[in-house]
Amino acid sequence: MPDVLENIPSISEPLIDWYEQNKRDLPWRETKDPYTIWISEIILQQTRVAQGYDYFVRFVSRFPDVQSLAEAPEDEVMKHWEGLGYYSRARNLQYAARQVMSEFHGVFPDTYEGVLSLKGVGEYTAAAVCSFAYGLPYAVLDGNVYRVMSRLFALDTPIDSGAGKKLFSELAASLLDRRQAATYNQAVMELGALVCTPRSPRCGVCPLSGKCLALSRNKTERFPVKQGKVVVKPRYFNYLHLVCGGTTWIHRRTGNDIWRNLYELVLIETEEEVSFEQLQAGEPFRRLMTGVGKIELRGVPVIRKHVLSHRIIYARFYTLHIERELQDAEAYIRVPSENLSDYVFSRLTLDYFDELEKQRQMNLLF
Ligand code: ADE
Repeated sequence: MPDVLENIPSISEPLIDWYEQNKRDLPWRETKDPYTIWISEIILQQTRVAQGYDYFVRFVSRFPDVQSLAEAPEDEVMKHWEGLGYYSRARNLQYAARQVMSEFHGVFPDTYEGVLSLKGVGEYTAAAVCSFAYGLPYAVLDGNVYRVMSRLFALDTPIDSGAGKKLFSELAASLLDRRQAATYNQAVMELGALVCTPRSPRCGVCPLSGKCLALSRNKTERFPVKQGKVVVKPRYFNYLHLVCGGTTWIHRRTGNDIWRNLYELVLIETEEEVSFEQLQAGEPFRRLMTGVGKIELRGVPVIRKHVLSHRIIYARFYTLHIERELQDAEAYIRVPSENLSDYVFSRLTLDYFDELEKQRQMNLLF
């Protein structure tokens, strides 16, 4: 057994005292309803509270229970997720809501195994839902908790290794205050979010500072240790916003790739960054534009670097007015420009639309 597991201190009392005095008022903390808690936890995965808050409020007001989510049109669920990223979370939510209807007679499961069996629910979410809704003694282990524990015990086992996962989950389970699992779990995460932050932790106000080994060695910023950086593969997206009178063309993404089932403008992906002149000279552009007549580039191209968890997308958006409609448009959906907002786009494309609106207001486009 690793040394650290042999002599576990109790941190619950100072931690919970601190939490009671410093916690943020957040709407999902006001309820014991497992459905509502589940929605909040899925939204808050990979999303900061400030960003997820409004999405949560809108989502649970439109889909207040399992049944309403299970029965909703998929596009409407996706529309409520638009701009939040990691869209498989929304698809899985609806799949899981249907699972609850069919496998659990419409009643949200009340055991760890039951919750874990829902699509898109991993150990973290199952522990969060079961402790917050039912008070079951499961310890949550998310990025905040890894950070707090790795600093408290100055553990240099990489958190993204098999050994790290095992060690930290055993440690989290041992530290858990089983009699008040919900409050304890919320408190550790809150400490990680507000005090034991990745950079410049506020050790001066930390209720655990007297017990923190990393602090006593003046090494807080060295923890947690990660073994490998995720390899980030760059991609180069050249988006054409084709406009012919009041018509434009969009495409629904398919296949096993980012943004599956979301819509986008006409895309030409290239192996490297290309200028507009290079793009125009290339075969895909020429084939696509055969027969469209005069092509006019309007406004200022919008250039964006869009960082996802394991991708960087270098995107360029061109607003192109064309004289005649696309000839070979089978792969695309022809839509009136004013109806674009009926479709679900990624944050990247939504930012382009915002930029376009700004250019319009500055009369740069016409
Ligand atoms: N991040 C993930 N779950 C959370 C919660 N319940 N409260 C605040 N931040 C969170």
